[in-house]
Amino acid sequence: MTNRFNNKVVVVTGGSSGIGLATAKAFSAEGAFVFITGRRQEALDAAIKQIGGRVTAVRGDMSKLADIDRLYDTVQQKHAQIDVLFANAGGGDMLPLGAITEEPISGRSTPT
Ligand SMILES: NC(=O)c1ccc[n+]([C@@H]2O[C@H](COP(=O)([O-])OP(=O)(O)OC[C@H]3O[C@@H](n4cnc5c(N)ncnc54)[C@H](OP(=O)(O)O)[C@@H]3O)[C@@H](O)[C@H]2O)c1
Repeated sequence: MTNRFNNKVVVVTGGSSGIGLATAKAFSAEGAFVFITGRRQEALDAAIKQIGGRVTAVRGDMSKLADIDRLYDTVQQKHAQIDVLFANAGGGDMLPLGAITEEPISGRSTPT
């Protein structure tokens, strides 16, 4: 690793598993301050242990605008800018631009 992202601020939504977790690990290993999100606290806690480095977990549902605002506020309290945003959280449903709303797609539930 080369520290190419030393002191850069990286936000990975859905960073507690899968692609997001792997991405958060890679940025952290390159020296970044990493913020991850997810809806399940226990998954975030486990991810923090795996990622190491300077990682902060912010519990929240990225389909809720208020939770996105809270994520932004948390980052802003510590850093002046976001250098990388990896918008990774989500499922597999597709909608055309203009038809996307804050409302969850029917049948999808938020885990506790
Ligand atoms: N894997 C593939 O083959 C593939 C293919 C095409 C596209 N993608 C897309 O790539 C992204 C990652 O896929 P993956 O396979 O790595 O998924 P994954 O292993 O299921 O991980 C999804 C991550 O997103 C979080 N998450 C899901 N919904 C969220 C929400 N509303 N708010 C905040 N966090 C949320 C999950 O945590 P919680 O459940 O705790 O919230 C988890 O950390 C997804 O957007 C997926 O649609 C994946």
